[in-house]
Amino acid sequence: MDYFLTWGHSPWGQQILTHVSWNLLWASLFAGVAFLLAHASYMVLSAHRKRHPDETDAMEASRPDLPPRIARHSLAARLFHWVTATAMFTLLLTAFLPIAGVRFAWVTWHWMAGLVLTASIAFHVIHATFWLDFWSIWVGPKDLPELRAEIMRELGHEVAGPKPGKYPLGNRLYHLAIVISVLAVVATGLTMMVRVRTPLFPRNPYLLGDIAWGFVYVTHGMGGVALVGLVIAHVYFAVRPEKWWITKAMILGWITRRQYLEHHDPHRWVVGQTPVKPGR
Ligand code: HEM
Repeated sequence: MDYFLTWGHSPWGQQILTHVSWNLLWASLFAGVAFLLAHASYMVLSAHRKRHPDETDAMEASRPDLPPRIARHSLAARLFHWVTATAMFTLLLTAFLPIAGVRFAWVTWHWMAGLVLTASIAFHVIHATFWLDFWSIWVGPKDLPELRAEIMRELGHEVAGPKPGKYPLGNRLYHLAIVISVLAVVATGLTMMVRVRTPLFPRNPYLLGDIAWGFVYVTHGMGGVALVGLVIAHVYFAVRPEKWWITKAMILGWITRRQYLEHHDPHRWVVGQTPVKPGR
């Protein structure tokens, strides 16, 4: 157990939890890198499916009504993405560089970035609730047939079973893991701000007892360590050459007509006849 947790003693000699063990940080870093090596080898070895260029040419010729650029992310969605990314990297670096031995006054930068992350998450929840298709990102037991069909397809079988809706299953599982980890660090991080010196309110390390603080710090550390691996996986997908078109769309907001036809089902994401609903 001590591989995962760090213990200390209260002034009364009681054994109390203090932090997660920083072994976990290296484990998460290792898991992130192992995942990307495994995925990269799989992509080299497998012939993955993409629409044939002739088929895309024919589709392009048959849809002269489509504009050359198709809106994919609204300005608000892009700003949210890059503000969140900046806050996330600041949080990861300010938290883990000191643990890796780089010494600096990290706590102030850390909680300030934490407040930016908290605000951007609040914005995202409101935006997704009122402007996006809220339920399209969640996973549950109802998705088991889809999971089975996806595994069979990966194994090279032609299966008629359910196809993904707006977001593929992998993306939805990834979102769930991010939600759990981010909610854990935000809720505990806001609580921990009471223990450090900030200009916002008087410091009160006695708000919670030693044991409760131990749980708060351990939950914060667990969420933070999980985010190391999750962020590595996310950046890895964004920089893979076959995904550059998606990354570029997150910067510029649009994709080309050809990319739209090549990668999307025009019956599911209808452009042209009905007004485009960007903002994913
Ligand atoms: C990517 C997200 C985050 C990561 C990876 C992260 C990581 C960490 C780590 C590893 C620590 C050291 C904990 C310990 O000593 O046991 C820490 C401390 C702390 N974090 Fe975070 N954190 C994140 C988000 C946040 C957020 C959102 C806030 C506030 C809103 C926040 C506020 C704090 C505070 C106040 C401390 C305490 C510093 C101290 O007691 O000296 N963190 N964080």
